[in-house]
Amino acid sequence: PPTGVLTGKRVVITAGPTREPIDPVRYISNHSSGKMGYALAAAARDAGAEVVLISGPVAIPAPSGVEVRNVTTAADMLKASSEAVDVGCDLFIASAAVADYRPQSCESDKIKKSSEQMALSLVRNPDTLATIAARADAPFTVGFAAETTDVARYAIDKMQRKKLQMIVANDVSVPGLGFNSDNNAVTVFWPDGQASIGPDSKQRIADRLMALIGEHLDQATG
Ligand code: C5P
Repeated sequence: PPTGVLTGKRVVITAGPTREPIDPVRYISNHSSGKMGYALAAAARDAGAEVVLISGPVAIPAPSGVEVRNVTTAADMLKASSEAVDVGCDLFIASAAVADYRPQSCESDKIKKSSEQMALSLVRNPDTLATIAARADAPFTVGFAAETTDVARYAIDKMQRKKLQMIVANDVSVPGLGFNSDNNAVTVFWPDGQASIGPDSKQRIADRLMALIGEHLDQATG
């Protein structure tokens, strides 16, 4: 049997983008390969955890030994995450690039080209991470922050606002790192400390992140 920092823990991880339909052939989405979340799922599995990976549409294979639940929209992601946490969850990691807004309505037929301009009405999507972290039975919760400016300031603000135990920030303005790349560099923040990891492969960053998360999870649960 596996023995690691997460032995016996139930871990739920969100990964990849969401897609918000505009009409039967079009959607709004974000740049996200899912590589960081999938690497985290493999790292959690290797650390001994039972892992549920809630994944938006991606083009990479699922890690073995991990239960994958495929979702499309942000609403689907919230529903699948809530159901997975209901069953019991020690650690929730939100690495998905969820669309912040969705079209107010999805047209049932393809929108035709006609006028020179068109406007799309968007409404806010539910925030999976903030919803899970606000539960009375909230697990230890780790968020991600992809920013292009003032990375540390936005990340720390997000950690406080969403009531997270840790946040992993990456500067997506650095060429060759971050979304779609195999490599990344991150800074992890918790209420009274921080650590920088990388630049390195996403798998090595995920392994080191999981060791760090495991230490903090132990401190939180005693
Ligand atoms: O506020 P922002 O979207 O930048 O926060 C990013 C973090 O929140 C990531 O961990 C992301 O997975 C999570 N998130 C979420 N649901 C949303 C929006 C963001 O879980 N609707």
